[in-house]
Amino acid sequence: MDSRSFSLIDVGLGEIDKAIKVLAAPAHSSRDLPGAPDGEALPAAQRLESARLMRVNHSGEVAAQALYQGQALTARDAAVSAALRHAAGEEADHLAWCEQRLRELDGRASVLNPLWYAGSFAIGALAGALGRGTNLGFVAETERQVESHLRGHMERLGEADPRSRAILERMTHDEMQHGAQAASLGGRELPFPVGLAMRWTARLMTLGSYWL
Ligand SMILES: [Fe+2]
Ligand SMILES: [Fe+2]
Repeated sequence: MDSRSFSLIDVGLGEIDKAIKVLAAPAHSSRDLPGAPDGEALPAAQRLESARLMRVNHSGEVAAQALYQGQALTARDAAVSAALRHAAGEEADHLAWCEQRLRELDGRASVLNPLWYAGSFAIGALAGALGRGTNLGFVAETERQVESHLRGHMERLGEADPRSRAILERMTHDEMQHGAQAASLGGRELPFPVGLAMRWTARLMTLGSYWL
């Protein structure tokens, strides 16, 4: 075996290790879970609906981790890599918050998460390989779509579940900053069909994780 194939195997094993950590190990956050703990337990129907919504958001954060890992593997620009690393740290908080809230709601993570991880990793690696402008443009577009998705969920939660809503509000704030930073670093506007394909992929993920 030559050293090149050995290092490829090394990289592959490293990526599998990271995937297992995201999918199976408890996530840790550096910031406290937003919102106050529920005083009285939510009514059963609301708890079920909140758990479904938070399962979708948890899947979104699993996908975010995979996107960043994929981009980190192929992106060659030091400034971009540093910005992505900073955002990935905040995304790790989001993952931990969604995980903790799911537990509080007696919910569970989606069984489809390995599928979302694999797909998102491949998309992230492709975006990273396409160069700085496209890669950052992809981040900006992703964050724009995530922001509008989160606002939709906050509307659906209304006043019925303040704790989940507070988490989504904080996440929305962070996602907007990630998007603005990517745009300011030179993110290029993506062609309309790409944005549309991203929206349909996200819709598929939303529907799958809501039920499964
Ligand atoms: Fe996030
Ligand atoms: Fe983000």
